[in-house]
Amino acid sequence: MARITSPAHVPALGTHEREEIGRELQATLVELVDLSLLGKQLHWSVVGPLFRPLHLQLDELIDSWRVLADTVAERAVALGTWPDGQAGTVAASSELVPLERGAIEDHDVIVVLTRRLAEVAERVRARMDRLGELDAASEDVVIEVVRALEEQLWMIRAQHPEPSA
Ligand SMILES: [Fe+2]
Repeated sequence: MARITSPAHVPALGTHEREEIGRELQATLVELVDLSLLGKQLHWSVVGPLFRPLHLQLDELIDSWRVLADTVAERAVALGTWPDGQAGTVAASSELVPLERGAIEDHDVIVVLTRRLAEVAERVRARMDRLGELDAASEDVVIEVVRALEEQLWMIRAQHPEPSA
């Protein structure tokens, strides 16, 4: 464990910068893990005529969020900080509002997903901006996350019952 944090083996960044970058990556990891859990809850809870396309689309989104979470966590380790994507940590630090247990109408699934994704994308975008001043390599990882989330947001927004939402 000590070896990975030895100055000779980690990127040349100050301790303070490393910790700050680690915090931004950790916050992003937590949100991606929570999004993937929220996605599964919607995948199981959706009802209505759009059940099948939404049920399938949610699994595609979950796959993407899990891959992105892995990329973010591994960037943190490469940097010499330790990520934590365990349930207790995610529950204690995620800002995502949990869903109530039970059936959710297909159109409501689209509304919930649009809202939650937009909130996460906005926070991750702010982290991307902060990372831009700290470490371009970590910023690049978070740019990839923002690009994916904003593309997903567009595709979900396009299915919204109210086009302006
Ligand atoms: Fe499933």
